[in-house]
Amino acid sequence: MEVMKTNINKIISSKGKRKLSMITVYSFFQAKMAEEAGMDILLVGDSLGNVMLGYENTLPVSMDEMSLAVQAARRGAKKSFIIADMPFLSYQSSISEAVNNAGRFLKDGANAVKIEGGKEVKTIIETLVNYGIPVMGHIGLTPQQINRIGTYKVQGKTEKNKNRLIEEAKVIENSGAFSLVLELVVEEVAMQITEKISIPTIGIGAGRYCDGQVLVWHDLLGINTEFTPKFVKKYANLREVIVKSLKEYISDINEGKFPTDENVFKGELK
Ligand code: KIV
Repeated sequence: MEVMKTNINKIISSKGKRKLSMITVYSFFQAKMAEEAGMDILLVGDSLGNVMLGYENTLPVSMDEMSLAVQAARRGAKKSFIIADMPFLSYQSSISEAVNNAGRFLKDGANAVKIEGGKEVKTIIETLVNYGIPVMGHIGLTPQQINRIGTYKVQGKTEKNKNRLIEEAKVIENSGAFSLVLELVVEEVAMQITEKISIPTIGIGAGRYCDGQVLVWHDLLGINTEFTPKFVKKYANLREVIVKSLKEYISDINEGKFPTDENVFKGELK
Protein backbone atom coordinates (compact mmCIF):
# COMPACT_ATOMS: atom_id res chain seq x y z
CA MET A 1 0.00 0.00 0.00
CA GLU A 2 1.47 3.35 -1.11
CA VAL A 3 1.74 6.05 1.56
CA MET A 4 -0.33 9.07 0.54
CA LYS A 5 1.62 12.29 0.15
CA THR A 6 -1.28 14.22 1.57
CA ASN A 7 -4.76 13.49 2.86
CA ILE A 8 -7.97 15.30 3.65
CA ASN A 9 -6.88 16.16 7.21
CA LYS A 10 -3.63 17.71 6.00
CA ILE A 11 -5.59 19.74 3.44
CA ILE A 12 -8.09 21.04 6.00
CA SER A 13 -5.44 21.81 8.61
CA SER A 14 -3.26 23.70 6.12
CA LYS A 15 -5.64 26.66 6.35
CA GLY A 16 -3.87 29.72 7.65
CA LYS A 17 -0.55 27.87 7.79
CA ARG A 18 0.53 27.31 4.22
CA LYS A 19 -0.90 27.74 0.72
CA LEU A 20 -2.15 24.73 -1.21
CA SER A 21 -1.15 23.99 -4.81
CA MET A 22 -3.58 22.31 -7.18
CA ILE A 23 -3.45 21.62 -10.92
CA THR A 24 -5.69 19.85 -13.38
CA VAL A 25 -4.52 16.55 -14.86
CA TYR A 26 -6.26 14.21 -17.26
CA SER A 27 -3.73 11.51 -18.07
CA PHE A 28 -1.07 9.11 -16.74
CA PHE A 29 1.99 11.23 -17.52
CA GLN A 30 0.45 14.53 -16.43
CA ALA A 31 -0.40 12.99 -13.06
CA LYS A 32 3.04 11.42 -12.78
CA MET A 33 4.75 14.77 -13.45
CA ALA A 34 2.47 16.67 -11.06
CA GLU A 35 3.25 14.18 -8.32
CA GLU A 36 6.97 14.35 -9.10
CA ALA A 37 6.79 18.16 -8.79
CA GLY A 38 5.20 17.85 -5.33
CA MET A 39 1.72 19.22 -6.11
CA ASP A 40 -0.64 19.09 -3.10
CA ILE A 41 -3.81 18.23 -5.04
CA LEU A 42 -4.48 16.85 -8.52
CA LEU A 43 -7.86 17.73 -10.01
CA VAL A 44 -9.25 15.66 -12.86
CA GLY A 45 -11.34 18.62 -13.98
CA ASP A 46 -14.23 18.55 -16.39
CA SER A 47 -12.15 21.13 -18.30
CA LEU A 48 -11.03 17.84 -19.88
CA GLY A 49 -13.88 18.59 -22.27
CA ASN A 50 -12.25 21.82 -23.46
CA VAL A 51 -8.54 21.04 -23.36
CA MET A 52 -8.39 17.31 -24.08
CA LEU A 53 -11.48 16.58 -26.17
CA GLY A 54 -11.98 19.91 -27.98
CA TYR A 55 -15.57 20.48 -26.86
CA GLU A 56 -16.80 24.08 -26.85
CA ASN A 57 -17.65 23.91 -23.16
CA THR A 58 -17.82 21.37 -20.32
CA LEU A 59 -21.46 20.33 -20.84
CA PRO A 60 -20.88 17.33 -23.15
CA VAL A 61 -18.36 15.68 -20.79
CA SER A 62 -19.54 12.22 -19.76
CA MET A 63 -18.93 10.01 -16.73
CA ASP A 64 -17.16 7.49 -18.98
CA GLU A 65 -14.72 10.12 -20.30
CA MET A 66 -14.00 11.37 -16.79
CA SER A 67 -13.70 7.87 -15.39
CA LEU A 68 -10.95 6.90 -17.85
CA ALA A 69 -9.04 10.06 -16.95
CA VAL A 70 -9.38 9.44 -13.20
CA GLN A 71 -8.10 5.87 -13.58
CA ALA A 72 -5.16 7.03 -15.70
CA ALA A 73 -4.32 9.81 -13.22
CA ARG A 74 -4.31 7.35 -10.33
CA ARG A 75 -2.01 4.98 -12.23
CA GLY A 76 0.37 7.90 -12.79
CA ALA A 77 0.20 9.38 -9.29
CA LYS A 78 -0.13 6.63 -6.73
CA LYS A 79 0.49 8.82 -3.67
CA SER A 80 -1.36 12.00 -4.62
CA PHE A 81 -4.65 13.35 -3.38
CA ILE A 82 -6.84 13.20 -6.49
CA ILE A 83 -10.17 14.97 -6.86
CA ALA A 84 -12.60 14.04 -9.65
CA ASP A 85 -14.94 16.66 -11.07
CA MET A 86 -18.58 15.59 -11.29
CA PRO A 87 -19.62 16.34 -14.89
CA PHE A 88 -22.83 18.11 -15.91
CA LEU A 89 -25.94 16.02 -15.11
CA SER A 90 -24.01 13.38 -13.19
CA TYR A 91 -25.36 14.61 -9.83
CA GLN A 92 -28.37 16.88 -10.44
CA SER A 93 -31.15 14.48 -11.42
CA SER A 94 -31.31 12.33 -8.27
CA ILE A 95 -29.41 11.73 -5.07
CA SER A 96 -28.95 8.06 -5.90
CA GLU A 97 -27.40 8.93 -9.26
CA ALA A 98 -25.09 11.40 -7.50
CA VAL A 99 -24.04 8.72 -4.99
CA ASN A 100 -23.48 6.10 -7.71
CA ASN A 101 -21.46 8.45 -9.91
CA ALA A 102 -19.37 9.93 -7.09
CA GLY A 103 -18.81 6.43 -5.70
CA ARG A 104 -17.66 5.27 -9.13
CA PHE A 105 -14.93 7.95 -9.09
CA LEU A 106 -13.73 6.74 -5.70
CA LYS A 107 -13.61 3.18 -7.06
CA ASP A 108 -11.61 4.59 -10.03
CA GLY A 109 -9.02 5.88 -7.58
CA ALA A 110 -10.12 9.40 -6.64
CA ASN A 111 -10.00 10.52 -3.01
CA ALA A 112 -12.80 13.07 -3.34
CA VAL A 113 -15.15 14.67 -5.84
CA LYS A 114 -15.85 18.28 -6.78
CA ILE A 115 -19.34 19.63 -7.36
CA GLU A 116 -20.31 22.98 -8.85
CA GLY A 117 -23.09 25.00 -7.26
CA GLY A 118 -24.48 26.75 -4.21
CA LYS A 119 -27.63 26.07 -2.16
CA GLU A 120 -29.04 23.77 -4.83
CA VAL A 121 -26.31 21.16 -4.14
CA LYS A 122 -26.52 21.32 -0.33
CA THR A 123 -28.42 18.03 0.12
CA ILE A 124 -26.26 16.27 -2.44
CA ILE A 125 -23.07 17.27 -0.60
CA GLU A 126 -24.52 16.27 2.78
CA THR A 127 -25.49 12.85 1.46
CA LEU A 128 -22.17 12.15 -0.25
CA VAL A 129 -20.20 13.21 2.82
CA ASN A 130 -22.39 10.98 5.02
CA TYR A 131 -21.58 8.04 2.74
CA GLY A 132 -17.84 8.71 3.06
CA ILE A 133 -17.34 10.58 -0.20
CA PRO A 134 -15.46 13.82 0.51
CA VAL A 135 -16.64 16.81 -1.51
CA MET A 136 -14.92 19.97 -2.68
CA GLY A 137 -17.43 22.74 -3.50
CA HIS A 138 -17.14 25.16 -6.41
CA ILE A 139 -18.81 28.59 -6.54
CA GLY A 140 -18.31 31.90 -8.31
CA LEU A 141 -18.18 31.25 -12.01
CA THR A 142 -19.58 27.78 -12.52
CA PRO A 143 -18.95 26.81 -16.17
CA GLN A 144 -21.67 24.14 -16.19
CA GLN A 145 -24.17 27.06 -15.91
CA ILE A 146 -22.90 28.75 -19.09
CA ASN A 147 -26.26 28.56 -20.86
CA ARG A 148 -28.00 30.35 -17.98
CA ILE A 149 -25.33 33.00 -17.34
CA GLY A 150 -24.42 33.68 -20.98
CA THR A 151 -20.73 34.61 -20.57
CA TYR A 152 -17.74 33.70 -18.41
CA LYS A 153 -17.72 36.88 -16.31
CA VAL A 154 -16.14 37.89 -13.00
CA GLN A 155 -18.41 37.29 -10.01
CA GLY A 156 -18.91 39.40 -6.88
CA LYS A 157 -18.87 42.83 -8.47
CA THR A 158 -22.10 44.05 -6.84
CA GLU A 159 -23.05 44.10 -3.15
CA LYS A 160 -25.94 41.72 -3.87
CA ASN A 161 -23.72 39.28 -5.75
CA LYS A 162 -21.04 39.51 -3.05
CA ASN A 163 -23.53 38.69 -0.30
CA ARG A 164 -24.91 35.78 -2.31
CA LEU A 165 -21.41 34.33 -2.75
CA ILE A 166 -20.64 34.65 0.98
CA GLU A 167 -23.94 33.00 1.83
CA GLU A 168 -23.29 30.17 -0.66
CA ALA A 169 -19.80 29.60 0.75
CA LYS A 170 -21.26 29.17 4.24
CA VAL A 171 -23.90 26.76 2.96
CA ILE A 172 -21.23 24.64 1.26
CA GLU A 173 -19.11 24.65 4.41
CA ASN A 174 -22.10 23.68 6.57
CA SER A 175 -22.99 20.88 4.15
CA GLY A 176 -19.72 19.19 5.10
CA ALA A 177 -17.50 20.04 2.11
CA PHE A 178 -13.79 19.92 3.01
CA SER A 179 -12.74 22.78 0.72
CA LEU A 180 -14.12 25.22 -1.81
CA VAL A 181 -13.05 26.39 -5.26
CA LEU A 182 -13.68 30.09 -5.95
CA GLU A 183 -13.62 30.73 -9.69
CA LEU A 184 -13.39 34.21 -11.24
CA VAL A 185 -14.26 36.11 -8.09
CA VAL A 186 -13.29 39.68 -7.21
CA GLU A 187 -10.20 39.48 -4.97
CA GLU A 188 -11.77 41.40 -2.06
CA VAL A 189 -14.80 39.08 -2.03
CA ALA A 190 -12.62 35.93 -2.20
CA MET A 191 -10.65 37.32 0.75
CA GLN A 192 -13.80 37.86 2.79
CA ILE A 193 -15.06 34.35 2.01
CA THR A 194 -11.67 32.90 2.95
CA GLU A 195 -11.82 34.71 6.29
CA LYS A 196 -15.43 33.74 7.01
CA ILE A 197 -15.23 29.99 6.45
CA SER A 198 -13.08 27.40 8.20
CA ILE A 199 -12.39 25.18 5.17
CA PRO A 200 -9.61 26.04 2.66
CA THR A 201 -10.57 28.08 -0.39
CA ILE A 202 -8.78 27.31 -3.65
CA GLY A 203 -8.85 30.18 -6.12
CA ILE A 204 -8.75 30.35 -9.88
CA GLY A 205 -8.94 33.97 -10.94
CA ALA A 206 -9.93 34.81 -7.36
CA GLY A 207 -6.87 36.75 -6.27
CA ARG A 208 -4.11 36.43 -3.73
CA TYR A 209 -5.89 35.75 -0.46
CA CYS A 210 -7.35 32.30 -1.09
CA ASP A 211 -5.87 29.38 0.86
CA GLY A 212 -4.59 27.83 -2.35
CA GLN A 213 -4.51 28.20 -6.12
CA VAL A 214 -5.50 26.03 -9.05
CA LEU A 215 -4.74 26.41 -12.76
CA VAL A 216 -5.54 24.34 -15.82
CA TRP A 217 -2.52 22.34 -17.04
CA HIS A 218 -2.71 23.61 -20.63
CA ASP A 219 -2.90 27.28 -19.53
CA LEU A 220 -0.05 27.10 -17.01
CA LEU A 221 2.29 25.39 -19.45
CA GLY A 222 1.43 27.49 -22.50
CA ILE A 223 -0.16 24.70 -24.51
CA ASN A 224 -3.51 26.42 -24.88
CA THR A 225 -2.50 29.72 -26.42
CA GLU A 226 -5.78 30.41 -28.20
CA PHE A 227 -6.98 32.49 -25.28
CA THR A 228 -5.05 33.30 -22.10
CA PRO A 229 -7.19 34.82 -19.36
CA LYS A 230 -5.69 37.61 -17.18
CA PHE A 231 -5.52 35.38 -14.11
CA VAL A 232 -3.25 32.78 -15.76
CA LYS A 233 0.49 32.83 -15.23
CA LYS A 234 2.21 30.97 -18.03
CA TYR A 235 5.22 29.09 -16.65
CA ALA A 236 6.36 27.71 -20.00
CA ASN A 237 5.63 27.95 -23.69
CA LEU A 238 5.29 24.26 -24.42
CA ARG A 239 3.19 24.74 -27.54
CA GLU A 240 6.09 26.55 -29.20
CA VAL A 241 8.56 23.90 -27.99
CA ILE A 242 6.34 21.04 -29.22
CA VAL A 243 5.51 22.54 -32.64
CA LYS A 244 9.19 23.43 -33.20
CA SER A 245 10.23 19.87 -32.31
CA LEU A 246 7.59 18.37 -34.61
CA LYS A 247 8.74 20.62 -37.48
CA GLU A 248 12.34 19.51 -36.96
CA TYR A 249 11.23 15.86 -36.98
CA ILE A 250 9.37 16.38 -40.27
CA SER A 251 12.30 18.09 -41.95
CA ASP A 252 14.76 15.48 -40.63
CA ILE A 253 12.63 12.75 -42.23
CA ASN A 254 12.39 14.70 -45.49
CA GLU A 255 16.12 15.40 -45.58
CA GLY A 256 17.19 11.89 -44.58
CA LYS A 257 18.63 13.08 -41.25
CA PHE A 258 16.47 10.71 -39.23
CA PRO A 259 16.98 7.87 -38.55
CA THR A 260 20.77 8.01 -38.37
CA ASP A 261 23.29 5.30 -37.68
CA GLU A 262 22.60 5.46 -33.93
CA ASN A 263 18.87 4.88 -34.35
CA VAL A 264 19.03 1.68 -36.37
CA PHE A 265 19.39 -2.02 -35.53
CA LYS A 266 22.14 -3.85 -37.39
CA GLY A 267 22.38 -7.54 -38.17
CA GLU A 268 24.06 -9.92 -40.55
CA LEU A 269 22.00 -10.02 -43.73
CA LYS A 270 21.86 -13.60 -45.02
O1 KIV B 1 -12.52 21.62 -14.53
C1 KIV B 1 -11.69 22.42 -14.09
O2 KIV B 1 -10.60 22.60 -14.62
C2 KIV B 1 -12.05 23.16 -12.90
C3 KIV B 1 -11.08 24.17 -12.42
C4 KIV B 1 -11.25 25.40 -13.22
C5 KIV B 1 -11.23 24.45 -10.97
O3 KIV B 1 -13.10 22.99 -12.38
